[in-house]
Amino acid sequence: MTLALRPLTPADAARAAVLHAQGFADAWSEASLSGLIAEPNVLALGAQAGSALIAFALFQSAAGDTELLTIATDPARRGEGHGRRLIEAALAPLAAAGNTRLLLEVAEDNAPARHLYAGLGFTLDGRRKGYYTAGRAAPVDALLMSRPLGG
Ligand SMILES: CC(C)(COP(=O)(O)OP(=O)(O)OC[C@H]1O[C@@H](n2cnc3c(N)ncnc32)[C@H](O)[C@@H]1OP(=O)(O)O)[C@@H](O)C(=O)NCCC(=O)NCCS
Repeated sequence: MTLALRPLTPADAARAAVLHAQGFADAWSEASLSGLIAEPNVLALGAQAGSALIAFALFQSAAGDTELLTIATDPARRGEGHGRRLIEAALAPLAAAGNTRLLLEVAEDNAPARHLYAGLGFTLDGRRKGYYTAGRAAPVDALLMSRPLGG
């Protein structure tokens, strides 16, 4: 089966919404994902395996900073390197567009995501106490992380 990274179009929003709902308790709607994918300051990348979109990531840039808005991999395809490849593929184009930092927020109890980000050189900038509540018995802190782009 062929594997490829490609830009998303709004036509991918329905599948992206399924992937998002499989990864997050506060699922984003197809309409909101479609809107984000269409925004000129959003880089939307997907991992395609044969005819199926199996992972995607959205990056939004403003004033030299880029935020990783979301990233999700099909639960059956996690741990195969798709998350890492999506972020790595975004680094050069984001830097070439003049962005100098890539920022994100991650729940303190999200071990796979924290492992992914640590491996890509993200470091801790701060935390938001009790930021995540959806789908949880008790609130969990958000860790604010970043890494340089380019240079
Ligand atoms: C976080 C997520 C996107 C990672 O996607 P993925 O395609 O599985 O990522 P990769 O296969 O590239 O794995 C990245 C690293 O995490 C590690 N990892 C994967 N699953 C793990 C787990 N359950 N526990 C600890 N580490 C794990 C991998 O070993 C890999 O490390 P390595 O590069 O040192 O080998 C995926 O787990 C997911 O969709 N989670 C639900 C949504 C989510 O939490 N998104 C992030 C919100 S901040």
